Amino acid sequence: MSTVTSVPAKPVTVPDLRARKGGTPIVCLTAYTTPMARHLDPHVDLLLVGDSLGMVVYGFDSTLPVTLDMMIAHGAAVARGAAHACVVVDLPFASYQASPADAYRAAARVIAETGADAVKLEGGVEMAETVAFLAARDIPVLGHVGLMPQSVRASGGYKIRGRSEKDAEQVLADGEAIAAAGAFGVVVEGTVEPVARELTRRLKVPTIGIGASAACDGQVLVVDDMLGVFTDFTPKFVKRYADLGSEIEAAVKAYASDVRSRAFPADEHLFGGGPSLQIPVQLPSGTLPTGKSPKRA
Ligand code: KIV
Repeated sequence: MSTVTSVPAKPVTVPDLRARKGGTPIVCLTAYTTPMARHLDPHVDLLLVGDSLGMVVYGFDSTLPVTLDMMIAHGAAVARGAAHACVVVDLPFASYQASPADAYRAAARVIAETGADAVKLEGGVEMAETVAFLAARDIPVLGHVGLMPQSVRASGGYKIRGRSEKDAEQVLADGEAIAAAGAFGVVVEGTVEPVARELTRRLKVPTIGIGASAACDGQVLVVDDMLGVFTDFTPKFVKRYADLGSEIEAAVKAYASDVRSRAFPADEHLFGGGPSLQIPVQLPSGTLPTGKSPKRA
């Protein structure tokens, strides 16, 4: 049974999100399946089908093995569950970096095959040409700068960005380049508050922070982190709003105990066969006197 408490009437579009610059903060969560999208949809502005699904759904140790087909399958599932929120799907590693034409082919498949509103891609100055190429061809792009998980091999780990003056300038230049190229918003991940604040001040499009302070125009979290479903590790920037992992474990223990004790299924879980249903019990011949029928249990 759904516990939905409010159902906003109108779908959130890409221009709506863009117009939220400096206004009420944009609420964003990741989603990967239809049922979860249905739970989140009335309460958020943006559902991000993040390539984080590689880690929290598929159990990979990074987002790098995620394929375009995986993103399309999950993107379509989330779009089916979203009546209100704007749906954005991540372009996975190696699907867009080689050339703007590659990026267009990948993004066009995502838009056409999932019903999503936009794509997100990671990268700064070096991806500006690609963002401009997509935007000019009516593919809305959400940028992603700061800590970029698809660059984990090159950067040598998940490192907070902008702690030195030089690196802070790089994050700012990356965000500005992507916005100038036509991104309708920019995710800013894993950076210090002064950098997030300055980038938010400089950009005319909204910044959506994750581990980047409340100075951003919106916030995003990985839903499995904030609900306590994914517990392999919890990044410092995550606030846990529930401990569903423990609830799942308790529920499964109760189910296992019920099955073992035959408490489940109970009478209320059985299909009725109608008052006249009589299944003749077949016993080996010679075990009953001729003419007598066995009683139903
Ligand atoms: O993949 C993802 O879920 C993301 C968010 C963490 C921003 O990119």
